[in-house]
Amino acid sequence: MNIERFVEHLVPATVVAFLAVCGAAAQQAPVKERPIPQIVKKDGRYALMVDGAPFLMLGAQAHNSSGWPEMLPKVWPAIEYLHANTLEIPVYWEQIEAHQGQFDFSVVDTIITQAREHHVRLDLLWFGTWKNGSQHYMPEWMKADPAKYFHLIDKNGRPADSPSPFCTASQELDIRAFTAFMRHLKAFDTQRTVIIVQVENESGTWGSTRDYSPVAQKLFEAPVPAEVLKAMGKPAGAPVNWTDAFGVEAEVNFHAWAVAAYVGKVAAAGKAVYPLPLYANAALRDPMRPGAPGSYEAGGPTDNVIPIWKIAAPAIDIVSPDIYMNDPVAYLKVLELYHRDDNPLFVPETSGSASVSRFFFSALGLEAIGFSPFGLDYSGVPSVPPAPSPAGGPGPAAAAAAPPSSPQDQFAPTAQNYRLIGPMMRDVARLNFEGKLQAIAEDAATPNQTLHFGAWNATISYGGGRGGRGATPTPNPNPTGQALVAQLGDNRFLVAGYSCRVDFRPVTADKHRQFMRAEEGTYENGVFKFVRILNGDETDNGLNLRAEPIALRVSLGVY
Ligand code: DGJ
Repeated sequence: MNIERFVEHLVPATVVAFLAVCGAAAQQAPVKERPIPQIVKKDGRYALMVDGAPFLMLGAQAHNSSGWPEMLPKVWPAIEYLHANTLEIPVYWEQIEAHQGQFDFSVVDTIITQAREHHVRLDLLWFGTWKNGSQHYMPEWMKADPAKYFHLIDKNGRPADSPSPFCTASQELDIRAFTAFMRHLKAFDTQRTVIIVQVENESGTWGSTRDYSPVAQKLFEAPVPAEVLKAMGKPAGAPVNWTDAFGVEAEVNFHAWAVAAYVGKVAAAGKAVYPLPLYANAALRDPMRPGAPGSYEAGGPTDNVIPIWKIAAPAIDIVSPDIYMNDPVAYLKVLELYHRDDNPLFVPETSGSASVSRFFFSALGLEAIGFSPFGLDYSGVPSVPPAPSPAGGPGPAAAAAAPPSSPQDQFAPTAQNYRLIGPMMRDVARLNFEGKLQAIAEDAATPNQTLHFGAWNATISYGGGRGGRGATPTPNPNPTGQALVAQLGDNRFLVAGYSCRVDFRPVTADKHRQFMRAEEGTYENGVFKFVRILNGDETDNGLNLRAEPIALRVSLGVY
């Protein structure tokens, strides 16, 4: 049981024991509630605070139709195999309000209760007005009345497969439903199993750059709100309409403003009843070659309109990239674009495939508060966990631990990352929040990388060239290396990672490093457990990190 799991058990048990000992008097005593999770910023860095301390979300997102009680048995074994500490799973407006004005949170309660049994936290995804740009999760009775809950009108005057951000009838109902949901969470979840909520899903529109309905057209021709101009770095001055202010970007900026304002109101109403961290996810545009408006989903928090989202939807704490790119340059660029002074980096969806899973470390290097590959459950993939054997063979635990066998599956790289970082998650989150941690992933073109820590440089090299001093490193055949280095004291470091060599050099040119002590260990329950001192071949040319999840604590000196 890791420390998170231990605390999950401890708190209710402690409360029960306390009540039993003290009887009626204790029942009147206030039981200290866990603090509400929140995003905090200090010295320019962000943390997701859970139970009062920085928390790193090691997430996995379930498939879109897995948020049903009958499907959960196909979700939990995957979460266990992955060593994820947080499940991202949808909550469906169409399920919660199947009958207008009547809210049924029984499915939400089942998810929360089972999450507690499995000792994981939840990121609940509000599939409300928007899901991937469409209104498909609106309750059936709304979809049946498109005159009242109207769609966006495209350039040809036809309704698109996307809700209009100017439909106040839909917005009012989304506000009412989302608020009821948040109010229910507040009452039901005093344990704070739910640590963050996503508002809508990839809101915006595919296939139309904005709403062309008469009401939208009128606003498009009206002056741009002054705060939008300011946010986008445009000079204040005489009123200017969207086209004059933004040229070819006018329509997507206008749509972003309209969608963000709608989502922002939904978020603000929910936050007013229960102030959990809230975020909005984005279907990205290509960060290197964005293409013209129309070539990507318009309206959502794509990188070009983040400032608009920030001012139009201030109740949204984070705008987050859904990264499905395999090109390393593009992937890293996206991380940079969403790591901003006004926005913590959080990756709520990504492919998690072997070719990009190392960028989890790149995200850590940019102080990410969470990371969560998509589609990691056993609902639809060919690799289901083996059934428990009736004859005393491998039971459910062994089944959960067995790696899926399908070559297409994306589970193993994430599991490897989370197995390493999971037990040290609180230290990693804290050190990152304090600005003491740096992390990096292998770049095929750069066999050596350097991290700077005051008087020390940490050098990371990859591949098989680990021979003698001065040997030229060669990249790994597939670039899978990743390293995390955190400064624990002036000359003390925590090192973890895979498939690389980490060494240290004093910044002072005429000095040489020596390892005073290099300890190999493992983290258990959040505590570093000493295994052995490394020396000789294991340290003479640096610290070799292979594929096993180990942690190293080193003290350095110079001569
Ligand atoms: C991104 C969406 O946000 C998810 O809900 C899901 O539809 C994935 N795309 C599928 O790749």
